[in-house]
Amino acid sequence: MSNKQHTPRVLIFDSGVGSLSIGAAIHDLLPDIELLYVMDHGGFPYGEWDEALLTTHICATINRVLTVHQVDLLVMACNSASTAVLPALRSQISIPVVGVVPAIKPAAALSKSGVIGLLATPGTISRPYTAQLIQDFAGNCTVISVGSRELAPAVENFIWHNGDLDGVLQNVKREFGEHRDFAKMDTIILACTHFPLVQAQLAGLLPNMQWVDSGQAIARRVAFLLEELGLKRTVKEVVAMQSAIILGDEQGSASLVRYLQNKNIQISAD
Ligand code: DGL
Repeated sequence: MSNKQHTPRVLIFDSGVGSLSIGAAIHDLLPDIELLYVMDHGGFPYGEWDEALLTTHICATINRVLTVHQVDLLVMACNSASTAVLPALRSQISIPVVGVVPAIKPAAALSKSGVIGLLATPGTISRPYTAQLIQDFAGNCTVISVGSRELAPAVENFIWHNGDLDGVLQNVKREFGEHRDFAKMDTIILACTHFPLVQAQLAGLLPNMQWVDSGQAIARRVAFLLEELGLKRTVKEVVAMQSAIILGDEQGSASLVRYLQNKNIQISAD
């Protein structure tokens, strides 16, 4: 987009509804920029993909979307994807890419006990990128990692079909509880963008924790980069358009459509 007078437009990409937690934080800080959510429902769950295949799949999908939709900036609103695909993606597209990765640094700074929970998909937990973040920013903390296979699908099912979460949340609690330092854990990183959507339910089962996610930091980064791109923002009072494309199921379910409508997000065709 070369005309600097247009309303900035940001693409928020995820395998599914995780894009909504990041989008909500961006919309809170920057209500006057357009948000285009792309949910790769057909590729869900990313947390189970092989790293190389995931990289190829996401780069091809985003390149396809960008041939149709003009945007100024892309947010990879998925920890499972960002911890694998960022270098390849950045080498293939010309707009800036903001990656959502586990918020290990702020969590380590916040924890008083030095025992932190890391709740993510199996993919994110296994990535060398995540191990490096832990080494760099939480070297003197104990990090209790739980790579849940079930939680992102359960959140997806919760938003799409009002599905039940209880059993899966109990399993998450049990997995944390099996660690010998669990009693000292005071902070949990929600290192999958689906999880902030059920933070209240998690907090009901795991009380007295500090919950850390990446949403606000990502929103600040988007604001900074849009300034840097020289994009003139419209007046503050204007609330700009939010729309969503669901790849692999253009309609969405009735429950998802209602959820999006409550947030003033329109479903649009690919
Ligand atoms: N939202 C994705 C993340 O942040 C996970 C969901 C998936 O497995 O596709 O990791």
